[in-house]
Amino acid sequence: MKVLIVGSGGREHAIAWKVAQSEKVSKIYCAPGNAGIAALAECVPIGAMEFDKLVAFAKEKKIDLTIIGMDDPLVGGIVDVFEAEGLRVFGPRKNAAILEGSKSFSKDLMKKYNIPTASYEVFTDADAAVAYLKEKADFPIVLKADGLALGKGVLICNTLEEAIDGVRTIMTDKKFGTAGNTMVIEEFMTGREVSVLSFVDGDTIRIMTSAQDHKRAKDGDQGLNTGGMGTFSPSPFYTEEVDEFCRKYIYQATVDAMKAEGRPFKGIIFFGLMLTPKGPRVLEYNARFGDPEAQVVIPRMKNDIVEVMEACIDGTLSEIELQFEDNAAVCVVLASDGYPVSYEKGFPITGLDSVEKVDGYYVFHAGTKFNDQGQIVTNGGRVLGVVAKGCDLKQARLNAYSATTWIEFKNKYMRNDIGKAIDEAESN
Ligand code: AMP
Ligand code: GLY
Repeated sequence: MKVLIVGSGGREHAIAWKVAQSEKVSKIYCAPGNAGIAALAECVPIGAMEFDKLVAFAKEKKIDLTIIGMDDPLVGGIVDVFEAEGLRVFGPRKNAAILEGSKSFSKDLMKKYNIPTASYEVFTDADAAVAYLKEKADFPIVLKADGLALGKGVLICNTLEEAIDGVRTIMTDKKFGTAGNTMVIEEFMTGREVSVLSFVDGDTIRIMTSAQDHKRAKDGDQGLNTGGMGTFSPSPFYTEEVDEFCRKYIYQATVDAMKAEGRPFKGIIFFGLMLTPKGPRVLEYNARFGDPEAQVVIPRMKNDIVEVMEACIDGTLSEIELQFEDNAAVCVVLASDGYPVSYEKGFPITGLDSVEKVDGYYVFHAGTKFNDQGQIVTNGGRVLGVVAKGCDLKQARLNAYSATTWIEFKNKYMRNDIGKAIDEAESN
């Protein structure tokens, strides 16, 4: 098979790495890819939103399967465009990707089908939102821009003043663009967060091993929200009891709800869960692998990922059992100092092979490229995901952090407390 992967981050590198191990696959292309993906795939300079060019490329190269890694093209309807041309593609159609693309859609769906989540109200008018905050709200309260906002469209407001400011930011000043035309105001919940990824074929859902992200830029969960500074898998807080609850009330219920709405979901559903004192609640859905969750979940997966993706497309997922290694993985993101606000790019990276050559250690590139001299240089806020496996979480964390010292580039920045929760889990 010839496979095309759409995207350019660490998630797509992890997907490409796994696809490359499939016996079914003879050639991989990635659009647009990055310097790390280039070791596994032929990178083609087509942007993820250039649907017509991607379709033309897939036809010209006789691509057998296209895998969409990113949210923007999915929410924009890339799967529908490919299908209309008779091309095989992995990911939800536009009418199902809305599960991630619109928070008000997903909240209304959960309410209608009794899927546990925070209580909420939807607003399309800033004055009405402010009136609601003044009359009815308890603080802290959560404001969410309806549409995609690079994971930054969520504001947690401690006071009425902050919340009124937040309404202005989202709805009036349109800091997140049209994503803020509609806004969700939501009850603030407390608890541990867990990410659970799944494969879905429209009817059947298969749950992958759990993971935990670290969204804030600085140690101790301080600083601004980022795309994710590190992950570990599995989560020690995702107990059998939690799993049982989610299987009963959340996972299949979501798939059935989408089907009942005439929006069958095929692809990846990412359940962002909060383990509240009252039980697990859905924080958000995503319609694709998490980044950097994929970097710790995929290396632990035993199945041929291409076989599983094809089963999702063909509606035969019920015939597949997912299998994960009985170990752990930790990913520490090496970023450019100043991320997520402003940072410099173009610095040469050294030491990559010292990690890549060790079994169970991986470097998934997020923002890298080749410069004119053919050196691999930094090309983004998040630069690399350094991943290591271990027999347990503690060992995996030790391994990953030691590997971070083998790689150097100017302005290298990382969090030093990825996986700190592992110790807290142990002391409980
Ligand atoms: P989301 O994009 O919906 O996952 O939100 C980003 C982050 O905001 C989440 O990972 C949580 O840390 C936080 N968050 C979102 N919704 C809530 C909520 N209802 N209560 C508390 N924290 C929340
Ligand atoms: N790591 C969170 C996300 O991919 O949205």
